[in-house]
Amino acid sequence: MFIMEAINALLHRVSCGKLTEPAPSLAAREAIFSAALRAADHGNLRPWRFLVIEGAARASLGKVFSAAALADDSDLNEAQLERYQKMPTRAPLLVVAIAQTSQHPKVPQIEQVVAAGAAVQNMLNAAFALGVGAYWRTGPMAYHPSVMKDLGLVEGESVVGFLYLGSPEGKLKPLPELAVADYFEAWPV
Ligand SMILES: Cc1cc2nc3c(=O)[nH]c(=O)nc-3n(C[C@H](O)[C@H](O)[C@H](O)COP(=O)(O)O)c2cc1C
Repeated sequence: MFIMEAINALLHRVSCGKLTEPAPSLAAREAIFSAALRAADHGNLRPWRFLVIEGAARASLGKVFSAAALADDSDLNEAQLERYQKMPTRAPLLVVAIAQTSQHPKVPQIEQVVAAGAAVQNMLNAAFALGVGAYWRTGPMAYHPSVMKDLGLVEGESVVGFLYLGSPEGKLKPLPELAVADYFEAWPV
């Protein structure tokens, strides 16, 4: 397994939309999933849980998506429904990242969602460092009540992302050119 220097991986990470077989190895998964658990986490609440979906289970998720879309719009045609059905097959492995928020005297719920988001970012970074392609998606399906129900979410839980993981297909996209000075300034000005 090739492990890039940490800072190099952080500075060069890009998402990878085209993902193919094979799915990440068990060792790579263990590292990627463990990275999630090292996210900054106010109060050490571990306000997250993750569903791992692969193989035929992706078609089941596709059914959940197409049923949700059809419930919203009964006029959807076959091709449109098939698009929803096929969404989860965009990668060999999906991780549904779920924020589990609860009332806490010191940790507002938004911080708990942020921690779950940080867990996803940690997985993106770990995946990149390991040469595993990854893409964080949400979209209407992440917030659809029937999708949430079918995935087993309960009160206080929300989907912070569908993390698609697989082998990068083709070249990675170029990095955007962003200047630190455009986003960071000394204060007071
Ligand atoms: C919470 C969240 C949700 C996202 N949802 C989507 C999505 O549904 N579809 C999409 O194309 N990109 C989505 N993105 C953006 C991509 O994951 C990716 O970050 C973006 O295309 C920029 O590419 P880069 O990560 O290589 O800079 C989302 C990002 C975040 C943080």
